[in-house]
Amino acid sequence: MDINHVRSRFAKHFDGATGSVYASPGRINLIGEHTDYNGGFVFPGAVDKGIVAEIKPNGTDKVRAYSIDLKDWVEFGLNEEDKPRTTWARYIFGVCREMIKRGVDVKGFDTAFAGDVPLGAGMSSSAALESTYAFALNELFGDNKIDKFELAKAGQATEHNYVGVNCGIMDQFASVFGKAGNLIRLDCRSLEYNYFPFNPQGYRLVLLDSVVKHALVDGEYNKRRASCEAVVAVMQKEHPHVMFLRDANMEMLEAVKDQVSEVDYKRAKYVIEEIQRVLDVSDALEQGDYETVGQKMFETHHGMSKLYEVSCEELDFLNDIAKECGVTGSRVMGGGFGGCTINLVKDELYDGFIAKAKEAYNEKYGKYPKVYDVVISDGSRKLA
Ligand code: GLA
Repeated sequence: MDINHVRSRFAKHFDGATGSVYASPGRINLIGEHTDYNGGFVFPGAVDKGIVAEIKPNGTDKVRAYSIDLKDWVEFGLNEEDKPRTTWARYIFGVCREMIKRGVDVKGFDTAFAGDVPLGAGMSSSAALESTYAFALNELFGDNKIDKFELAKAGQATEHNYVGVNCGIMDQFASVFGKAGNLIRLDCRSLEYNYFPFNPQGYRLVLLDSVVKHALVDGEYNKRRASCEAVVAVMQKEHPHVMFLRDANMEMLEAVKDQVSEVDYKRAKYVIEEIQRVLDVSDALEQGDYETVGQKMFETHHGMSKLYEVSCEELDFLNDIAKECGVTGSRVMGGGFGGCTINLVKDELYDGFIAKAKEAYNEKYGKYPKVYDVVISDGSRKLA
């Protein structure tokens, strides 16, 4: 994240002005996928890639925003609901509106931002953007009166209300709460969380980006969520306390098998199993048992591919290569439909695995996967 680059662009586009600079990261997730909106557990951590934004109140009721990477300008009024139409600017506009709803007296500002979290790679570039502005607006216009959870929720609500993705809380939570060297286990029902120092001696975490762009806005993500909610609705007839799939078990699912569609059954089975896997991984981590962690990651991949159906051919291919190379754990990460696999690899196997994955992937698909070593880093913060 290059602060000097943002500073120089901001000065260039806003007559030499200087504002305050904020940053928020993207995230990885060790395990617990599509569990957040089911009230389950997730296990994310913030990464060393994210968004940096410079911001300066401009004394008007307009926002003038510049995307440094896209070289694109947008200007919008804080009350102009039909504007802006550009996706990146809708995130900023949405966060402004959500912060206003939460009682922050947001006024016009000038801003320029840039990022190094790859877009569409399943590392939550959009959450990084939302968290950066939520954090900044809270400080610049709200005397920091909004707590961190509410900042994450403002980002999530932006996705729901201004982008059309009914996402859970994981990405924005990880971006705001990230802590260097730590993964965070979040219970998405109670919102209790614990930091887990993560420094697996002898292993590395590496992402392989399939460079298949994932897009959650095309409706498949929302359909998964709808399937889960449909199963909950049926279960509630017998078990009124079930608010989320988190509150159910496999026995309860079997009991309603005939009353739900085959597809919805598969979706729910995956989620119930995945929630348990996160707990198993927590135990394994406490014992330093990375072999079990890896085993669970492979099980997650299988579930995401065959039951939840959010993998794709290229990601399955990368997962197979990981298995062939003796990698400890590997799975598709994030919402799916493209993006990255996350891999837990023994130090001594790392070079061979990366070389083999590049070569085989290129041979099959005519392109190379991108490789990102994971550095677990801090969450939203002010840089200057
Ligand atoms: C996306 C969503 C998250 C979460 C993941 C899947 O990243 O934004 O809320 O549901 O997919 O675990």
